[in-house]
Amino acid sequence: MVSSDPWSIREQDFPADATRWEQLRFILHYAALAPSSHNTQPWKFRILHAGEGVELYCDSTRGLRVADPDRREMLLSCGAALLNLRLAMEYFGPRVYTTLMPDEDEPDLLARVDWGYRALGDAADRLLFRNIVWRHTDRSPFQDWNIPQHLITELQQEAAKEGSILTFVAAGEMRNRVAALIASGCERQTEDPEFRRELADWVHPNWSEVEDGMPAYAFGMKSYVASAVAPIVLRSFNWGKWAGREMAEMAAAAPALAILSTAEDRPAAWLAAGQALERVLLRACAEGVRASFLNQPVQVQELRGELAAAANLQGTPQLVLRLGYAFHAKATPRRPVAALLC
Ligand SMILES: Cc1cc2nc3c(=O)[nH]c(=O)nc-3n(C[C@H](O)[C@H](O)[C@H](O)COP(=O)(O)O)c2cc1C
Repeated sequence: MVSSDPWSIREQDFPADATRWEQLRFILHYAALAPSSHNTQPWKFRILHAGEGVELYCDSTRGLRVADPDRREMLLSCGAALLNLRLAMEYFGPRVYTTLMPDEDEPDLLARVDWGYRALGDAADRLLFRNIVWRHTDRSPFQDWNIPQHLITELQQEAAKEGSILTFVAAGEMRNRVAALIASGCERQTEDPEFRRELADWVHPNWSEVEDGMPAYAFGMKSYVASAVAPIVLRSFNWGKWAGREMAEMAAAAPALAILSTAEDRPAAWLAAGQALERVLLRACAEGVRASFLNQPVQVQELRGELAAAANLQGTPQLVLRLGYAFHAKATPRRPVAALLC
């Protein structure tokens, strides 16, 4: 019996003798574990009737109206879920074929993934699959250990497999300029009470049983009392100057700061970049490297160009990642697969 909590999934429980439909339902537990902005989990899945494949839809009712009006981060998040789906289908079955945006009359239908016939057995992707259940966003300070050059190169290769570019920002003057833009982005966002209200709606006390959003422990708040007060503080005060300064310090001191960018800036590129993101996070996780996000200068549209110039980027920035070694992250909730089917 498979638990309804996607984090409890165990590969040894794969129903090898069941129908393809039931096998795909099992596999969707791995898709559900993908990261998403504010942990909105903005995805839905339709298992095709004979179990030949799965369609991925974005769930527009779960969008962030203020922080993500263009649905850019929604598609990045769905891209991460798509990568998990592809990895898991190939891990348990034959090679898959993915079609992005298969129906231009249906913009919420983001991808269709079909099982083929030939076994692939890609060892590198099997390693990524095994790390789906271990990956968590870690916002705590990182150890003062360098990330080896070979891993930096491999992370860039993983991003390139999905047509995206991962640029590492060297410590020093360039890093400080990027850090200043992170602080500036944070300050600008929190000036808007609607932005703070939306964020507060997705932050929950530690004891909450809500199956989406971010428990306050994900931001380092271990105390139950502090976690209960967190949404009220987020909503009621402009904390941007303080938080921006702290984020900038973290960015400047991180063992690695990387920016994921794409040649184009449209829905298909966002979906591809989400897949690249998940490849990078899973490959990093396999080496004990954790990540957190410092996307403020991408989310504030006016700062995007400045970020690209400050970091000498190719293409348009999509995400800013802080990478390093840490041991603190705990899983955040996920909705059960039954709630994701359409
Ligand atoms: C596209 C995208 C954007 C994100 N942006 C931020 C961000 O700006 N700040 C942040 O702290 N976390 C950010 N996150 C991390 C999510 O909050 C996190 O994935 C979610 O809460 C689920 O937690 P988990 O990654 O530990 O499973 C982002 C994640 C994604 C996929």
